[in-house]
Amino acid sequence: MRFTPALLPALLLGLSSAVSPAVAAFAPPAAFKNVNLVHIVSAEKNYVKETINVLVENIASSPQQEYYLAIPSDKFAHIGGFEVKDRKDAKAGSFATEAVDDTHIRITLPTPLAPGAQQTLGITYYFLSAYRPLPALIAQDHKQYLVYDFSAYAPSAYETTKQKTEVKFPNSDVPDYTKFEGGEKSLVQKQGSKLTYGPFDTQPAGALRPVSARFEFTKPVSHVERLERDIEVSHWGGNVAFEERYQLINRGANLSSLFNRVKWAQSAFYNPQTFALKELKFPLRPGSADAYYTDVIGNVSTSRFRSGKREALLEIKPRYPVFGGWTFPFTIGWNADATTFLRRLNNSYVLNVPFLEGPKQPEGVEYETVRLQILLPEGAENVKYWANIPSSSIATSTLTTHKTFLDTKGRTAVIIVARNLVDEFRDREVTVTYDYPLLASLRKPIVVFASVLSLFVAAYLIGNVELKFSKK
Ligand SMILES: *[C@@H]1O[C@H](CO)[C@@H](O)[C@H](O)[C@H]1NC(C)=O
Ligand SMILES: *[C@@H]1O[C@H](CO)[C@@H](O)[C@H](O)[C@H]1NC(C)=O
Ligand SMILES: *[C@@H]1O[C@H](CO)[C@@H](O)[C@H](O)[C@H]1NC(C)=O
Repeated sequence: MRFTPALLPALLLGLSSAVSPAVAAFAPPAAFKNVNLVHIVSAEKNYVKETINVLVENIASSPQQEYYLAIPSDKFAHIGGFEVKDRKDAKAGSFATEAVDDTHIRITLPTPLAPGAQQTLGITYYFLSAYRPLPALIAQDHKQYLVYDFSAYAPSAYETTKQKTEVKFPNSDVPDYTKFEGGEKSLVQKQGSKLTYGPFDTQPAGALRPVSARFEFTKPVSHVERLERDIEVSHWGGNVAFEERYQLINRGANLSSLFNRVKWAQSAFYNPQTFALKELKFPLRPGSADAYYTDVIGNVSTSRFRSGKREALLEIKPRYPVFGGWTFPFTIGWNADATTFLRRLNNSYVLNVPFLEGPKQPEGVEYETVRLQILLPEGAENVKYWANIPSSSIATSTLTTHKTFLDTKGRTAVIIVARNLVDEFRDREVTVTYDYPLLASLRKPIVVFASVLSLFVAAYLIGNVELKFSKK
């Protein structure tokens, strides 16, 4: 198992307090000061990853355990995947994070920080739908440029004594970025694919300094609006079946003229780089089998599936290249041997499955909503589950009963809905434990036998009735 027991209380806490009502105008107490802060922004993928490494000091007179992060409200809806660690103590694991309102994230330190004491936090999170293409319309063989609007000061709920912001781009083609004038000129530096703002001196809590940068990104901006991932566990077949339904859109530049397939075929030959999505690669668990891929029209043959003992890879191609503004809804599915994910301990079972398996693309993939449903065998009892994704990313988590043909009691389903994740969370696991008494494993054959039997009895009775009628 990947998760450590120490993580469990935090995760359970996150699950139980899924959605707290909005608190009006929350203002965290000025209990901390950021002594030194380095804000690292990676705009290398089609989502933004931000890291804030900060030395914090308790300036209150009592021990403090709650550190807050203030995010500008216009960005808050597109932010996710918060993880906070102690930069000097990796063993402490991830700290619990929770949204307090629509601008503040509460970080709970594992142990209270004494007055005057300092701690180094490493805070990571992601921005989705972070960019806008400029120009918004381009020709199919042109280079795409994206704009990122951000703040040269890191978002903070506390006074920050010293800070700088470093932005990394995919390459050094950054034709426009905010420059400062006069004496502040030296506070902006571009070196190759890296842009640095600062170091800045003391800034008050909540200070922002809007800047923007425009950079080349001739790759698709793949945005999954919704992923529905269904996992069905069958003890009978010794099988785990996966099905994933994607609502994908390219958030990149729209075409300025009609798509030209001839030109496309020609340019693909000498310059394969394009902002259109033309292929997705799904690494699956070794031993995966029976992969399929369908879109709105039906079965698509332009897929390749290789599966072996060491690795499995499903490669799919849309029927046409997906340019900016175009959507690509599709479904994939496959089967896997239950022994890959399921372990038995007496009459209980432990299931470990990835929360997300999705495509692995060099340019990245972002997910606005992921709905994971794990359907357990009929008769599974005492179901418990934990997801090893940031607690603040989980919108809802529920246990429900699902009835299908020949089920007597209905099957338990674990449903977890998460918001604002990125492909870096691929392979984070969900663990489900459940009891499965021997009787439960016999229930289905008993039901089948009983229904066949009742059919015979019914046929016999009807036969008799008819017989009686015919005698009259
Ligand atoms: C879909 O295509 C695969 C081969 O690519 C084939 O085995 C399968 O039978 C097809 N399914 C349908 C419903 O056409
Ligand atoms: C790009 O295309 C999408 C979908 O057709 C449309 O909603 C959007 O307004 C277009 N953007 C521009 C700038 O034309
Ligand atoms: C399984 O059951 C046996 C006998 O009842 C017991 O000794 C053992 O500890 C159990 N194992 C687990 C993992 O619960």
